[in-house]
Amino acid sequence: MPHSIQPPLQQLLEAVQASAKYRHIDAEFIRSLGAGELEKRRSLKEAIKATKNKLHQVGAAYQDNTPRYARWLEALQSASQAGDPAHLQATCREIMSHHASTRERLPFLPCFYSAILADIAPVHSVLDIACGLNPLAIPWMPLAPGARYYACDIYQDMIDFLNASFPLLRVDGEAMVCDVIQQCPAHKVDVAFVLKTIPVLEQVDKNAGRRLLQSIQADHLVVSFPAASLGGRHGGKGKNMEANYESHFNELIAGQPWSIQRFSYATELVFVIHR
Ligand SMILES: C[S@@+](CC[C@H](N)C(=O)[O-])C[C@H]1O[C@@H](n2cnc3c(N)ncnc32)[C@H](O)[C@@H]1O
Repeated sequence: MPHSIQPPLQQLLEAVQASAKYRHIDAEFIRSLGAGELEKRRSLKEAIKATKNKLHQVGAAYQDNTPRYARWLEALQSASQAGDPAHLQATCREIMSHHASTRERLPFLPCFYSAILADIAPVHSVLDIACGLNPLAIPWMPLAPGARYYACDIYQDMIDFLNASFPLLRVDGEAMVCDVIQQCPAHKVDVAFVLKTIPVLEQVDKNAGRRLLQSIQADHLVVSFPAASLGGRHGGKGKNMEANYESHFNELIAGQPWSIQRFSYATELVFVIHR
């Protein structure tokens, strides 16, 4: 079909995918954002621009423009073959420094999972929602031998990399491309991670956080929000941010008979929900 007589949504998809920055993002997710923007905007050009802006806000802003997945996989392969846990952890840390969310967690990573999962460990199955590079933190997690690790995000190249990485991290893992606003993975697990993700999803659909918490099939959920400590680099602003997200979290769980644990780190406020 000549370009001009293609439906506008197809033209929008092709225009967005022509940009290297968005090429690996799930086409269904681009369509769903694009369809909303075509309804709201006056022209195809404006809808394309608005779709790209949203994709930047919810995904591209967090990661390097050109992630070096092939190089990272080689580094992981040689670290895994060397059989030295410290070398493997150093390699994982280096890779995690290329995604803003995991990079911020690196200073407190050694105590993060051991503290928040202390009452649940050893964990037999995990679902990591909108995972980014967080599965590279597996060497710090108190997982049971043979644990299953499911993970999802909107980037196909990231998901391919994670699927190749799981055997090197010695875990039975499966990563999938998924827009969790449209559909949450239905796996039944011990623990689901929803780390620093609710505010991102709510930029697209203000009810996405509440729906997600209801539909995840997990006995325990680890839900976190970006924050900053009192003396942290965001000063008073960070304190406000933490208070705002805490009250938002309380609204999201209002009326639920769940018990909650709270943990606060320099850049992350964490709630563990026991159902
Ligand atoms: C703030 S980062 C958090 C990453 C990870 N959970 C962590 O804390 O290290 C948000 C992640 O959500 C992903 N994402 C954005 N929209 C999504 C959607 N609709 N479905 C699944 N993942 C999404 C982005 O690609 C990005 O990796």
